[in-house]
Amino acid sequence: MTADLAVEQARTLGSPRRPYGPLARVLFLGMDLVYGRARTLRKFTVLEVIARVPYQAWEQVAYVAMTHTYRKPDFARRVFEFVKESRMQQDNEQWHLLILEEMIQKEGLPESFLLYRLAPQLVAFFYYHVSWLLYAVDPKLSYALNADFEDHAEHEYMEFVREHPELERRPFDSEFKADYDETLSTVADLFRRIGLDERHHKDESLARIAAPRFS
Ligand SMILES: [Fe+2]
Ligand SMILES: [Fe+2]
Repeated sequence: MTADLAVEQARTLGSPRRPYGPLARVLFLGMDLVYGRARTLRKFTVLEVIARVPYQAWEQVAYVAMTHTYRKPDFARRVFEFVKESRMQQDNEQWHLLILEEMIQKEGLPESFLLYRLAPQLVAFFYYHVSWLLYAVDPKLSYALNADFEDHAEHEYMEFVREHPELERRPFDSEFKADYDETLSTVADLFRRIGLDERHHKDESLARIAAPRFS
């Protein structure tokens, strides 16, 4: 066990969840109804499919903003920095998804096209437009929804590690390990690391609410 990651897990589990807004509540309730309340690998992949979407929406909006502002170089540069950050977060969520999917395939868990392919894509489609629309109305609304989503993900991953002490003894091996984090030795630490990433994503959204970079 990596000491720092265990400390981070304890920090998450010792802190309250955010008071989630109505949209986030509907999303989490809907996921519990469709996929069950239990934390499972499958349910996490659904979370990860949806998690990338706000960053895609913001990147898209920022690109349009750059088209209209490239004549003000300072402003355009700030927008471009924002685009780069959104891309990095998207990529980070992508590694989460690839690693989880690889784990599911290795374990030979049952497939359901409807539940694990089609439904998440539909939810992601709607979530993209909600994120985009909220951003157009007031970027803070979109960041707040994402902070709720990331806070939920952070807690779910850390709880999952607590519920499964056997993961402390399971070595972590993956085709994507070098791309993601070579220092991870157990599956428990992998999930702690993912949970910590979600906290960083949350904190980045909260920082933007406090001090919007542009708009
Ligand atoms: Fe993630
Ligand atoms: Fe995240």
